Amino acid sequence: LPNKIKNICCIGAGYVGGPTMAVIAQKCPEIKVTVVDINVQRIADWNDESLDNLPIYEPGLKEVVLEARGRNLFFSTNVDNAINEAEMVFISVNTPTKKYGVGKGMAADLKYVELCARNIAKVSTSDKIVVEKSTLPVRTAESIKTILDAEGKDIQFKVLSNPEFLAEGTAIDDLHNGDRVLIGGDQDEDGLNAIQCLIDIYSHWLPRERIITTNVWSSELSKLTANAFLAQRVSSINAISALCEQTGANVDEIANAIGADSRIGSKFLKASVGFGGSCFQKDILNLVYIARSYGLEEVADYWEQVIKLNDYQKRRFAEKIVQNLFNTVNGKKIAILGWAFKKDTNDTRESAAIYVADYLLNEQAELVVYDPKVKAEQIYADLDYLNTRSEEQNKHLVTVVRDAYEAMGDTHAVAILTEWDEFKSYDWEKVYNGMKKPAFVFDGRNIIDKQQIEDIGFKSYNLGRE
Ligand code: UDX
Ligand code: UDX
Ligand code: ADP
Repeated sequence: LPNKIKNICCIGAGYVGGPTMAVIAQKCPEIKVTVVDINVQRIADWNDESLDNLPIYEPGLKEVVLEARGRNLFFSTNVDNAINEAEMVFISVNTPTKKYGVGKGMAADLKYVELCARNIAKVSTSDKIVVEKSTLPVRTAESIKTILDAEGKDIQFKVLSNPEFLAEGTAIDDLHNGDRVLIGGDQDEDGLNAIQCLIDIYSHWLPRERIITTNVWSSELSKLTANAFLAQRVSSINAISALCEQTGANVDEIANAIGADSRIGSKFLKASVGFGGSCFQKDILNLVYIARSYGLEEVADYWEQVIKLNDYQKRRFAEKIVQNLFNTVNGKKIAILGWAFKKDTNDTRESAAIYVADYLLNEQAELVVYDPKVKAEQIYADLDYLNTRSEEQNKHLVTVVRDAYEAMGDTHAVAILTEWDEFKSYDWEKVYNGMKKPAFVFDGRNIIDKQQIEDIGFKSYNLGRE
């Protein structure tokens, strides 16, 4: 097995593979890092001269790519070549929730991972360390290893688990200065050597004590557990937000008060219209599926409740809009501010905005959407994907605009669904003057000063406040 890494190949140039490899290349100039993808357009975008068309938006990413691209960071569609050249191959492809067959709607679909493993097995002519970067169910490494070895070639493969903990919108910061890196591997001599190769890479910029090593299964399960715990905190505070609205307590005051307890901690206690993103729901569903498959019904039910509460929160917010608008939004124009699942990203996967919009469209509302980073095609694609109504109807009922004031003009209500900073600094007096009266603001992120906008004349609804 290799003990010095000179060439890395990463299969998958997405939200995880792209930024992670860009930072490894930046910090390890002596290692050639090649990121490959079967999606030709994606690779072309990563190679785009201007750097303004990178396929994903992340603060600071442009600078990192500018520094390393063409030096020791390359984006290519020549998958086989890059695999063969590398001593270490990362698998960073998507693992969406299965949409068919056994485990439909619950289990992770591992077909892309398996295809990668088969491809690595087929084209390799030298020993390789294969690193799982994608989030995978426990014991996937075993399947990968079986597939790798099945070609019966006289070469060795060692599989490591190295889950990614970066959050979108802060990916570069998280990569540069992560709380920890986790590496799982076999605890035999070859396994420990492979782990050391990966430690050597991360040690270029992270202190050794932040690099945690475990066995493979602990590493795989830690990733699911971390996301389940984080999502659980959001569902927990969101559950309390509903109670606050009935009792006169204020959810932000509660978050502040409980967060001061060092055993609880202050992060991830922001009440919201519901968590989104490609990870939380998928990973919890996966955890629930695994628990059930081992007959652990109580464990499965416990974690499943986190998802149910999140669905409830999205529905509850949409219901509040309709109720407040005198129980009908039929033919009423409503502005949707924010479509991304959180600020500072153009990613919309599982965004609460999609579900709130769908609910309002079922009630025959007309929506005008503004998001600073999400393209119109994406917004229509997200709605069409639900299959609730025809593409023509979505086109007819939803308008996407590039200017927030234009979005809010002549509407009955504004619904804030993403916590973009720019929303806070709008001239809300001007917005008010341009709207139908009574003018409503539904703040699904509690980012606007309630007192200030009520003084202007708005009627406002906030999560977790009377
Ligand atoms: C608790 C709260 O901590 C305290 O703030 C509140 O004022 C009263 O209730 P207490 O019940 O005295 O205090 O003890 P605590 O240390 O919280 O432990 C409660 C139970 O949880 C114990 O049985 C403890 O063994 C258990 N526990 C705690 C665990 O099983 N695992 C843990 O990681 C922590
Ligand atoms: C998450 C994990 O944080 C990261 O470690 C993992 O690698 C991938 O999944 P990400 O989905 O990118 O990252 O974003 P995150 O910041 O965790 O937010 C997830 C969702 O929770 C967002 O919709 C966000 O708005 C919501 N959220 C987060 C809240 O509603 N309240 C909070 O207090 C925190
Ligand atoms: P993530 O958030 O996990 O990074 P993305 O969907 O953003 O997920 O990125 C995954 C990428 O992996 C996609 O660009 C997809 O084209 C690529 N991919 C999937 N399967 C393969 C494969 N067999 N070979 C190369 N690239 C692949």
